[in-house]
Amino acid sequence: MTPEKQEDRAIAERIEELRSAIREHQHRYYILDEPTISDAEFDVLFRELQALEEEHPALRSDDSPTVRVGGFISERFEKTQHPMPMLSLGNAFSQDDLVAWRERIKRLLTEDQQADLAYVVEPKFDGLTVVLHYENGRFTLGATRGDGLYGENITPNLRTVQSIPLQIPAAFAPTRQVADMRHDLRPPTRLVVRGEAYVDKADFEAFNKQRGAEEGRTYANPRNFAAGSLRQLNSAISAQRPLKAWIYQALILEGVEKPPTTHWESLAYLKALGFPICAENQRFGDDEFDALLARIAEWDTLRHDLPYEVDGIVIKVDSLAMQEQLGFTGKDPRWAIAYKFAAEEVITKLLDIVVKVGRTGALTPNAVLEPVEVSGVTVQAATLHNEDYVRDLDIRVGDTVVVVRAGEVIPKVLRPLPELRSGDEVPWEMPTVCPACGQSVVRNAEEAATYCVNSACPARLVRLVEHFVSRGAMDIEGFGFKQAELFVQKGFIRDLADIYYLPWEKIAELEGYKEKRLEKLRNGIEESKQRPVSRLLTGLGIRFVGSTVAELLMKKLFSLEKLMAADEETLAEIDGIGPKIAESVVQFFALEPNRALVDKFASAGVRIEDEIVEQEVESGTKPFDGLTFVITGTLPSMSRDEAKAFIEAHGGKTTGSVSKKTSYLLAGEKAGSKLAKAEALDIPILSEEALRALATG
Ligand code: IVH
Repeated sequence: MTPEKQEDRAIAERIEELRSAIREHQHRYYILDEPTISDAEFDVLFRELQALEEEHPALRSDDSPTVRVGGFISERFEKTQHPMPMLSLGNAFSQDDLVAWRERIKRLLTEDQQADLAYVVEPKFDGLTVVLHYENGRFTLGATRGDGLYGENITPNLRTVQSIPLQIPAAFAPTRQVADMRHDLRPPTRLVVRGEAYVDKADFEAFNKQRGAEEGRTYANPRNFAAGSLRQLNSAISAQRPLKAWIYQALILEGVEKPPTTHWESLAYLKALGFPICAENQRFGDDEFDALLARIAEWDTLRHDLPYEVDGIVIKVDSLAMQEQLGFTGKDPRWAIAYKFAAEEVITKLLDIVVKVGRTGALTPNAVLEPVEVSGVTVQAATLHNEDYVRDLDIRVGDTVVVVRAGEVIPKVLRPLPELRSGDEVPWEMPTVCPACGQSVVRNAEEAATYCVNSACPARLVRLVEHFVSRGAMDIEGFGFKQAELFVQKGFIRDLADIYYLPWEKIAELEGYKEKRLEKLRNGIEESKQRPVSRLLTGLGIRFVGSTVAELLMKKLFSLEKLMAADEETLAEIDGIGPKIAESVVQFFALEPNRALVDKFASAGVRIEDEIVEQEVESGTKPFDGLTFVITGTLPSMSRDEAKAFIEAHGGKTTGSVSKKTSYLLAGEKAGSKLAKAEALDIPILSEEALRALATG
């Protein structure tokens, strides 16, 4: 061997050595929670590996621990079909519901089976479903739940999540821990697992605190934070977020000698492979059902002590054979049920009521609360809806109030506790002038809402800008309420398009806008210019035009110019657009300043027109979804390419040769061997006319 070759080999070996050491330490740190080296020592190993991979690109690998740093940028997420539909769970709200569930199951099982019946009780993690695929031990694909049939391919982002193994079994597999495992730990040829990605409550609060101080743009709860972090187009951003995962189900397992026969065993098997399996999971025999119920009752308080959010308990039948036999009703499995915790109520002091002006001009009373912990999250503000709500419930400033937070919902003041009044409480009234601009407000009797109708009201503009830059609209990184408020107050922003004409020299003089912050903001604004037009349309804040409606409109019209030119009738003909929306859009663009705004965006280089692409294949909604066609012979009116385009536009695929997997053969004149083969395989044969009929259903 030449000296160079020898050196190459030594480097390759060193890289492998480092990778396996790093994997082991990561596993100890993230999964076992028993690190054996310090962070600094770990960094030395990690940096050595990074440097070697940088110098020797040929030796890089997709499952190296360095990929966890991210950096992969996608244009958008591709859709990927799940190997089986991702179903949901039926709910139980009381112990009685659980007892009834158990009875239902037992009726469907034989006496022998009933004797073997057992359950696994697991936390219902409140995060984001993920589906992870492994082929021959390597992590190959990771997806979100999506609509249950198709998910979004977020593989590069999931690679950055430290507790998700990139290789199984992890080289250092903790076989010792499961010494009695009867499973062989060679990698399965195929494994698909399902789990939940999440963020710890404390990590969420810390992130929000920092983000809130910088931008005034925060996430509502740990679950939204996890979802937002995983759905980043740039995986380097996901990598900086404190994402974690729990795995709770093996969906597909192929190529192992003795596959687990119970759910409990399959969890132990997954754990042995190196997956993060929650230590709170417990197994109960059917004769221990009372203990199971007692344990669930304990969970009502236990969950608050856990570092992550749990919004219920899942109870699953343990035997996989029984699971299969019990099957599904509609979209819920009979073999599992989710026990949901009641929304938590707490008591705190109402310190003040402040009125916020929304982007439509609506005035909303908001409660300023003495900070209190609700379901593990600190709450210090809550909504009071409107004037009538405060008056009808007789909520007074200084009252002790009951506050509730249920799942995603913004915390809400439920009622005051008048028996705790000292007499110093002050009844509240809606102001008669806008707290922001001082103009008189108008009460809209129908809606119980009060509005500031001054279109030049700075508070409205601030809210509108905040909406424009938000995640659902133009998603401008580095821009939030703080910036909106500041730039409006300084007079830099007088209309939405001014966002693209900011006086950067002046901003650079403001406190807190040093180079890095400034650059982030400028890049964020620049990047947003390329967003799909539906985002810009959403950002305009037209009444009734949220992101769904904006997408429907732009899918049909592709440009704002076309939208501005359309009349009510044309708009109302679009699927999903009713007369109220159509009227609102037309009214908006009837105003000259709003039309001028669109021109101003265009002059700044903001996209006001989408490329006309073939209709996007919407998951599971097209008539030919999941179908494969083969075309043969001469068709009466379509060329082959046209037929192919037609099939694809309706969600189907075309291939060149007939096989058992072919759904239909599209046959015209002079069809030859393909026709014979299709007939032999009993594959349905379509004429062009029949194809068109099939497409229109
Ligand atoms: S089992 C056939 N177990 O709850 C349904 N789901 O399923 C099997 N979830 O968004 C689901 N923790 O991601 C199961 N321990 C757990 C879970 C869990 C959270 C989520 C899941 C999905 C929803 C309904």
